[in-house]
Amino acid sequence: VEVARTRLGGAKLIVVANREPYIHRRANGGVELMRPAGGLTTALDPVMQACGGVWVGHGSGDADRETADARGRLAVPPDDPTYTLRRVWLTPEQEEGYYYGFANSTLWPLCHQVYRRPTFDPAHWAVYREVNELFAAAVLEEARGGPAVIFVQDYHFALLPGLLKAARPDLVVAQFWHVPWPNPETFRVCPWAGELLDGMLGNDLLGFHIQYHCNNFLETVDRTVESRICRERFSVGRGDRQTRVLPFPISVDPDLAAEYTVGWQDRVGELRAAHGLGDRPLVVGVDRVDYTKGIPERVRAVGRLLERHPEWVGKFHLVQLGAPSRTNLPAYRDLNAEVQTLADAVNRTHGTADWQPVVFVNRHCGPEDIYALYRDAAGCVVSSLHDGMNLVAKEFVTARDDGQGTLVLSQFTGAARELTDAVLVNPFDVDGLAAGLHAALAMPADEQRRRMRRMRAQVSDNNIYRWAGMLLSEASKLVPDADPPEV
Ligand code: F6P
Repeated sequence: VEVARTRLGGAKLIVVANREPYIHRRANGGVELMRPAGGLTTALDPVMQACGGVWVGHGSGDADRETADARGRLAVPPDDPTYTLRRVWLTPEQEEGYYYGFANSTLWPLCHQVYRRPTFDPAHWAVYREVNELFAAAVLEEARGGPAVIFVQDYHFALLPGLLKAARPDLVVAQFWHVPWPNPETFRVCPWAGELLDGMLGNDLLGFHIQYHCNNFLETVDRTVESRICRERFSVGRGDRQTRVLPFPISVDPDLAAEYTVGWQDRVGELRAAHGLGDRPLVVGVDRVDYTKGIPERVRAVGRLLERHPEWVGKFHLVQLGAPSRTNLPAYRDLNAEVQTLADAVNRTHGTADWQPVVFVNRHCGPEDIYALYRDAAGCVVSSLHDGMNLVAKEFVTARDDGQGTLVLSQFTGAARELTDAVLVNPFDVDGLAAGLHAALAMPADEQRRRMRRMRAQVSDNNIYRWAGMLLSEASKLVPDADPPEV
C-alpha cells in the first residue's frame, strides 16, 4: 500500500462505497458506534487507515447526523482518526428505490445466478440514477482543486464512473465490483444493460475477484455496446478512452485475528453456556442472512448427516450466526423465518432432551464473538450458492494460529479458487454437503494441520494490503505525471 500511495503522486484517494464503515446509532439512552456486517467495510477500513483520504458513503445510522459536521464529514476511526468519512444523506424514498430496489432487487439477483428472478422496475431505476448523481456531486466536491484517484465500490454505483469522467476527465477512476459478473445471456435481460455498461466503462480500471468474471464482463460488453475489445490487454476501447478489466481477489487483514482473539476462551465459555453447547465440537457458519449464502442448504445437510451417520448424534453442534440483513425486502425477511423453521425441524427430528444439533443465533454479533467461535470451532462451513469471494472463509483461516480446524467451502465462491485445501462442496447437493461435513468432522489432526498450514500461507501472502496495493498501483499508472511505475 505504501508503494501504491507513493505512486499516487500526491493525488487524493477518495473511496466511494454505499456502506459506511462506522455507523452511529441511538441505543440505551446514548449513542453507540456500530461496525456493519459484511466483507466490504471490514476489508477496506484497514486500507483506508493505512492510506488516508476520504470515504464517501451513505449515512445510515439514526445518530449519524449529530456525530458529523454540517457537510456530513467526520474523522474516523473515532478513537484514533486516520481518514475522513463523508456521509451522504438519502431520503427514505431514495433508500427504498436505490438500495432496496435497484441495487438489491435488480442487480444483486442479476449478478448472483441463484435462480431468483430480478425485479425490473423503472421507478427503482430512476432513483438509482438520482442517487448515483447525488454521490457524484459529493465526490466532485471532495475532489475539488487537484488530482484525485476515485476508488468506487460495488454494484450500487454502476453509473458513477461515467458521471465522474464526464464532469472531470482528468480524474483517475477505478471501480471494484464485489459481486460476481454473470454470463452475457443472464445480464442482457436487464432493460438498462446498455446504460449500466456505459457507466462502468467510464472507469479507467475495473476490477473483479476472478478472471472468469472479467471474461464474462468483456463478453457482455462485446455483445451489448459498440466498442473495441482487446483480449490480450483485457481492455475495452471507446472513442479515445480505455477501460482495463483485471482480476484482483480481495482478502482480509490477517493481523486482525490476533487483536480479536484476545481472551477468546472466556468469550467462548460464555457463548457455550448461553446456548447449552457443553464442550462438544462446533461447526460454525457466519453470514448475513442472505439467499445467496446457502444457509437452508447447510441446515438440511446437518439433518442428512445425522441420518447417514448416526454416530454423530449428540456429538457436535452447528452454530449458525445469522446477522439479519436487508430486512425491508420480503425475500430476506422470510429467510430468517425459513432458517429458524428448518433448524427447529432438524432439532425436533434428531435432537435429544439435552442436545440440539442446530443453534441459530439470528442477530448481529461483534467481531470478538465471531473470532472466538472461529478459534474454538472444529470446522467452519461456507455453503454459498454463488459468491464473489466470501471473506468468512479467509477470516476463519486467519483465526487458526493453532493450525487446527477444517473449512467446508462451496465450490461456487471466489475463495474456492485460492483455498483449494478446504473440503470443497457443491451446496446444491445435500448428500455431498453432508459428506463434506462428515469429512471435516472426522479429519485426522495431522491432515487438518497440513491443509491449514497451506491455507494460512495463502491468506497471509495474498492479504488485503496486497489486494489494495495491486489495485492502487495499477490505477496509479494512470495518474497523469505520476512517477513511472517500477516493473
Ligand atoms: O459483497 C457485496 C456486498 O454488498 C458488500 O458491499 C457488503 O460487504 C455486503 O454485501 C453487505 O451488504 P449491505 O451493505 O447491503 O449490508
